[in-house]
Amino acid sequence: MKLFSRNASPSHSIMASFLVLTISLAAANIAGGIRFPDRISEVPAGISNSQQLRTAAFALGSFWRSEAVFGCLDGVVRTTAGYAGGSKPNPEYRSLGDHAESVQIEYDPRLITFRQLLEVFWSSHDSRQVFGQGPDVGNQYRSIIFTNGTEESRLAAVSKEREQTRSKSSIVTTQIQQLRTFHPAEPEHQKFELKRDHFLLQLIGNLPEEELEKSSLAAKLNGYAAELCPPRLQKRIDGKINDIIRKDRPILQEV
Ligand SMILES: *[C@@H]1O[C@H](CO)[C@@H](O)[C@H](O)[C@H]1NC(C)=O
Repeated sequence: MKLFSRNASPSHSIMASFLVLTISLAAANIAGGIRFPDRISEVPAGISNSQQLRTAAFALGSFWRSEAVFGCLDGVVRTTAGYAGGSKPNPEYRSLGDHAESVQIEYDPRLITFRQLLEVFWSSHDSRQVFGQGPDVGNQYRSIIFTNGTEESRLAAVSKEREQTRSKSSIVTTQIQQLRTFHPAEPEHQKFELKRDHFLLQLIGNLPEEELEKSSLAAKLNGYAAELCPPRLQKRIDGKINDIIRKDRPILQEV
């Protein structure tokens, strides 16, 4: 399992070569008075209105990466990086106290289930690692499944047991906790992977921070930028981007 490497993909070099083109096209659009955010299509109407959405939260190492892992999944509508699992009242990045870096996920249970989110959780980090995750060392990177209600606690416990059966020689360190409060992290930690990719930011019209944080498209592209989408989806987004570039349509509206 390849967990922490980030290779430059061929698609990124293709994208880089179109950067100049895109910037000039976007500039032309600004001049034409088009306001980008209106053109971003969010959750398709009728599929996910907020009443049917559910919320889950997990801690599995760096929240930059965790947000990217879940943001790309079909059925995930929004992601937020934050702090949870501890008792410190106002955690901040440099003083998060006893909290763990976490991701909160709003999802449509008709498209993805809590059980499926658990599978992604287990397969996206090493739950046997003690006091850290990958290169990140410290209590803030511990592994936690946050649950809401007895059914989720049961599913979490069953999945942990199964995970423990798979790894006989070492202990699964993951904690299971009822979620109390999720504290959203500072803006600079939201969609962190996407923000490092100026080409992609440009492609969705340089959304203002608040829209970027709420955007489903940004959540997906955040996963794409980190190359953490499932391969099929990673390819689909490559295709969409190349399509847009070919057709001189500078703004990516959906993936
Ligand atoms: C638990 O789920 C219910 C809906 O089933 C929701 O109203 C409540 O806010 C959730 N609690 C937390 C802490 O997320």
